[in-house]
Amino acid sequence: MNDSTNPPSGNNAPASKTPRRIIVGITGASGACYAVRVIELLAACGIETHIACSSLGRRLLAEEMGITQLDPDALSGGLGERLVIHPGNDVGAACASGSFKHDGMIVVPASSNTLAKIAYGISDNLVQRAAQVTLKERRPLVIAHRESPIGMAEIEAMRKATQAGAIVAPLSPGFYLEPNSIQDLVDFMAGRLLDLVGVDHGLQIRWDKHLESRRVRPE
Ligand SMILES: Cc1cc2nc3c(=O)[nH]c(=O)nc-3n(C[C@H](O)[C@H](O)[C@H](O)COP(=O)(O)O)c2cc1C
Repeated sequence: MNDSTNPPSGNNAPASKTPRRIIVGITGASGACYAVRVIELLAACGIETHIACSSLGRRLLAEEMGITQLDPDALSGGLGERLVIHPGNDVGAACASGSFKHDGMIVVPASSNTLAKIAYGISDNLVQRAAQVTLKERRPLVIAHRESPIGMAEIEAMRKATQAGAIVAPLSPGFYLEPNSIQDLVDFMAGRLLDLVGVDHGLQIRWDKHLESRRVRPE
């Protein structure tokens, strides 16, 4: 077991080429709007997007977004042509295999349950299995965790997942771009998640661009 304090580096960094295929895992944490926005942006970028959703992820999509059917167009703002939805319990789906080539996986929102399962190598459903395979194949895995406060179990799971090569990206949007709406906050986070898998999304979420637009110069 790797117990060093430094996460592995190098071979699982996002490739410099334009991503063509991304997996999105949706689990039962609050923040279904982040998942939908990430999927919309991937679709708008023309990226083939594979969706794995846990049972509780489905419940949160329904409760928070009113999405009761996992329909490609409903999940992507009508851009569902390049969206593939896999049954959430099908650990034999194409994206559960190491032979399935892709450019990264984002688990958003990621529950503490799924975070821990990934960290400790347990694969009870397709989200967990696809994440494990992403790690073993040294592809980028981003875990957008949501829970607050967190205890030692989550902290340990974050440490383990990071050591295994995942990027833990808590759903914690910044306020320094002066957001005017909840959508601005969602976009901030969705854009940062896409940055982490190398997708060029074009959202205005950059501090340097913000400074330019306000004509403020750093000292
Ligand atoms: C309405 C609702 C909101 C929830 N929000 C969170 C949350 O924000 N973070 C979290 O870790 N778990 C949350 N949970 C609990 C998880 O859904 C639960 O641990 C579940 O087992 C996660 O399963 P999954 O990881 O397979 O999706 C929530 C549950 C419900 C019903």
